[in-house]
Amino acid sequence: MSGTSSYTLNSGVTIPKVGLGVYDIPIEATEDVVYEALKAGYRHVDSAATYDNEEQAANGIARWLAENPTHKRSEIFYTTKVFDDHHGYQLTRQSVEESLAKAARIGYIDLVLVHSPRSDYNMRHGTWNALQEFAASGKVKNIGVSNYGIKHLRELLAYPDLKIKPAVNQIELHPWLLRPRLVNFCKKNNIVVEAYSPLARGYKFDDPDLLAVARRHKKTPTQILIAWSLQKGYVVLPKTAKISRLKPNLDVFDIKLSTDDLKQLEKPGEHFNTGWDPTVYPLDNEK
Ligand SMILES: NC(=O)c1ccc[n+]([C@@H]2O[C@H](COP(=O)([O-])OP(=O)(O)OC[C@H]3O[C@@H](n4cnc5c(N)ncnc54)[C@H](OP(=O)(O)O)[C@@H]3O)[C@@H](O)[C@H]2O)c1
Repeated sequence: MSGTSSYTLNSGVTIPKVGLGVYDIPIEATEDVVYEALKAGYRHVDSAATYDNEEQAANGIARWLAENPTHKRSEIFYTTKVFDDHHGYQLTRQSVEESLAKAARIGYIDLVLVHSPRSDYNMRHGTWNALQEFAASGKVKNIGVSNYGIKHLRELLAYPDLKIKPAVNQIELHPWLLRPRLVNFCKKNNIVVEAYSPLARGYKFDDPDLLAVARRHKKTPTQILIAWSLQKGYVVLPKTAKISRLKPNLDVFDIKLSTDDLKQLEKPGEHFNTGWDPTVYPLDNEK
């Protein structure tokens, strides 16, 4: 098991379980970090229009593929996202065309996500219709959402002209932010859950329970947190800009957390959000 270990999306396409998150990696470092990640065994990269490093991320993939001709583009999974200021049919078309242009050296995009539900019914609906068209054209292989709460997912699943259901919902998840209702809703609807900020951005590395579990398994707190996401059945998207941390962050597939480990790690009472939380963004009738 390694960076190639995967889940199957509702589209039938496989998605590698571990993806390198490239949010906040400096633009000038991104190509090298992505290239080194592929060298280290990663096969999945998570970017976004708003991270300003899509082109560099795609170029890192293209460089590695050019140097490793026995490997195919189809082995790698590249995600990007449409930001809130490009909701609505026309602006979403423009955003995805720009993302495709930046990904020109790798030919297509494996997954485009609606970055968050922060607009209104008509804008979200127009965005989804534009994404469905890109998926039908083949330039984008899968479409999904991010930061959607249950109410946003219900709204989308009820579009009268819905043709493609979201393949994933990418949300913040870690032992201090468990979201059981939202996770169960996704699972029931065959939507793969992706865990972002899976290391809680480092804020909890000195949690005594995390340290105790890490000691028992002779692993680092980072590795335990990545293993936790995998054990929950999530795609996990740890970010590092440090090349020396890429391999250790993938060396997690031998970790089997016991029921007691999970109990010790998980803090159901905390609801600790490290960043924004658009899953609670109001629907039109709640504004
Ligand atoms: N959809 C969304 O709204 C959304 C929001 C946030 C994030 N995301 C996605 O999720 C990805 C990950 O989330 P995140 O970037 O917020 O945070 P994260 O992965 O939870 O944590 C990243 C932090 O952990 C540190 N770190 C990584 N590996 C380490 C190691 N082995 N030892 C010690 N420290 C380590 C990193 O520092 P170094 O870089 O210095 O190693 C960085 O400070 C993002 O890159 C993005 O792709 C999506």
